[in-house]
Amino acid sequence: MGNELHRAGLRESELHAELSPYWRVSVVDVTGSTQLDLAESIHAGIAHDGDVLVANYQRAGRGRLDREFIASPSSALLFSFYKKVSRPRSEWNFIALLTALAITDALAEFDAGVKFNVKWPNDILINDKKIAGLLCQSVDAGIIVGVGLNVSMQQAELPVASATSLLLENFSQLDRNEILKGILQNFEKNFQIWQKQGSAPFISTYQERCSSLHRDIQIISPLGETVTAMATGISALGELILSDGVLVNSGDVLHLR
Ligand code: BTN
Repeated sequence: MGNELHRAGLRESELHAELSPYWRVSVVDVTGSTQLDLAESIHAGIAHDGDVLVANYQRAGRGRLDREFIASPSSALLFSFYKKVSRPRSEWNFIALLTALAITDALAEFDAGVKFNVKWPNDILINDKKIAGLLCQSVDAGIIVGVGLNVSMQQAELPVASATSLLLENFSQLDRNEILKGILQNFEKNFQIWQKQGSAPFISTYQERCSSLHRDIQIISPLGETVTAMATGISALGELILSDGVLVNSGDVLHLR
C-alpha cells in the first residue's frame, strides 16, 4: 500500500464540527514548531485556553531537553494545545502523565490488540519502541502540551532505530484526524477530573501502564548525572518513587534489559 493512502490530509472543519467547544483546532501545512507558535500567540494575547495547533510538517520540531523532533510531511500527528490550569503549580508535572494516559486511552480505543506502555514521564512505547513523545511547557497561567506521534512512517523514515510507527505496528487506525480527536477527548475527560480531584484517580492506571517500574533503569538527570535504579511507583506529584524511597521529578529514563 502506498504512503499516500495513509497520509490523508488534516481536516480542520471536521475537527471543529466533531470536537466539543472545549477545543478550537487550527491546521497549518508547514511551520517551524507548533509549540513555539502557540507560545508566541499566547504571549501576544491571541491564543486562548483550548486552542490547538496541528501541522502536517514542522521544519524545526522541538523535543524534550532541547532535542529536535523530526518527521517527514504528513507522516506524524504533530500538535500543541494550551490549557489554563487551576491547580497549584507544584502539581503541574502530573499533566505530562495525564497526557500519556490520554494518548494510550485513545489508541487502545481504536485497537485493543496493540499494547502501549508509557516510559516515564514523556514517551509512549510499543514493544519498548517509541511511538510518541510529549512535551509540557508552562506559559502564564497555563500549560502548552505538545505531542508528536509517529503514524505512517516507513522504517527508513524513523529518526532512530529505537522508534516505531503505528503503520509499522499494523495499527488499525492511521487517520490523524480520528487519532487527534480521540486524544483530545480523552485529555478533556482526564483533565476535568484532575482539576477537581488531583492525581489520586489516575495513579494506579498510570502505574499499570508504566513500563519504567519494577525493572532496572538508568536515570539521567537534567545536569547529565546518571544513576542506575529501580522504580517501584509513582507519587501524587507524578514523581518516580525509587526502591530506596528517593523521589525523582525530572530526567530522562533508559530502560535496561
Ligand atoms: C520528545 O519526544 O522529546 C517530545 C516530542 C514533542 C514533539 C511535539 S511535535 C508537536 C509539538 N511541536 C514541537 O515542536 N514539539 C512538539
